[in-house]
Amino acid sequence: MHDKTYRIIQWMTGDVGQAGLRHFLDNPVYDVVGVLVHSKEKVGKDAGELAGVAPVGLQATDDMESIIATDADCVFYTPVIMDLDTVCRLLESGKNIVTTSGFFHPSEDFRDGGERIRAACRDGGTSFHAGGIHPGYAGDLLPLTVARIASRVDKIELFEVVNVLTDAPLDHIDWMGFGKDKDAFLSEPTLLGLGVPFFAQSMHMIAEGLGVCVDEVTAADVRVATAAVDIPHPEGVLLRGTVAAQHHEWTAWVGGRPLIVYHAIYVIGTPEQLDPSWDWGLTRYRLVIHGDPPTEVTLKGVEQPDGSMVHPGYTWTAMGAVNAIPDVCDADPGWLTHFDLGLVKPRGLVRP
Ligand SMILES: NC(=O)c1ccc[n+]([C@@H]2O[C@H](COP(=O)([O-])OP(=O)(O)OC[C@H]3O[C@@H](n4cnc5c(N)ncnc54)[C@H](OP(=O)(O)O)[C@@H]3O)[C@@H](O)[C@H]2O)c1
Repeated sequence: MHDKTYRIIQWMTGDVGQAGLRHFLDNPVYDVVGVLVHSKEKVGKDAGELAGVAPVGLQATDDMESIIATDADCVFYTPVIMDLDTVCRLLESGKNIVTTSGFFHPSEDFRDGGERIRAACRDGGTSFHAGGIHPGYAGDLLPLTVARIASRVDKIELFEVVNVLTDAPLDHIDWMGFGKDKDAFLSEPTLLGLGVPFFAQSMHMIAEGLGVCVDEVTAADVRVATAAVDIPHPEGVLLRGTVAAQHHEWTAWVGGRPLIVYHAIYVIGTPEQLDPSWDWGLTRYRLVIHGDPPTEVTLKGVEQPDGSMVHPGYTWTAMGAVNAIPDVCDADPGWLTHFDLGLVKPRGLVRP
């Protein structure tokens, strides 16, 4: 039996942070000792209230210095954007960090920052680990886990399908450029396109796990479907003729051939509302391993009798990282990748 407990600081309470905080408050393995927020209206609110559960008598603060001075075993670090200076200060202050925000695998783009994280871990005698659903699971751990039962791998394809209206925050409509003129959208950098170096970390991780090297990661031209009709949504209307679905395709080349292909498909509307009438189905991750034997795995929420489905994306994201906290806290200091952690042993998932 593992009866050790871990003192946790929740750093920001957005969608992922709330899912983490809710878990920490329910799982006796964790003891929440601090909650940092950015939004003024959340300051002084009870941690339980912020997590959507009963009050627990711990108030959230926006005083970063007092949180950095708080003694804790681990910070679950889930800000909107990672700040490397702050991460290093926390590590140097003797607190381990588990995050969903970045530095998933030491690819070239993250080498310099990674060295800073390693140095801070050495100074503080602490560890750092980043996890999540993607990056952190669906496009790296899951393919490697499935490859474990393959005889030959020719190509790995991951399809991330997101129905934006049902399974993403509504601000994604604007952020991701839905409702824009198609030509204008295609002439500018896209939010997802800017994220390629983040997702490429997972490709490098797969390659390392399979004992090969990625030569380069390329992005195909973004494909777009427009709204065939006006599409109403809770924030307004997506006008006919504007961007209503986008398909991004990124490829990791190994030895001159496309070994890993990620498809990111974000859709507003039903196939009948789209031109062309793309039909990607419900929100899910679909992994296909071409090779011997050809194998596929679909990761999605459970469909209800009425055909609806609650997509557990934020819980998966939070828990992909959170479940590593005990192993990260108990490990020797350093930046711990999935390979360093090995098979993680989640604690406290089986509860009365
Ligand atoms: N690896 C994965 O699978 C995966 C998946 C999804 C997201 N992520 C990453 O996980 C992190 C958290 O995602 P999320 O969806 O929870 O993010 P989010 O809801 O957009 O925002 C996180 C929180 O950051 C704080 N914040 C907002 N604006 C800020 C500002 N200007 N300065 C400082 N803090 C600010 C707010 O905290 P308060 O509300 O507490 O004030 C906000 O709720 C992000 O870095 C995201 O990229 C990873």
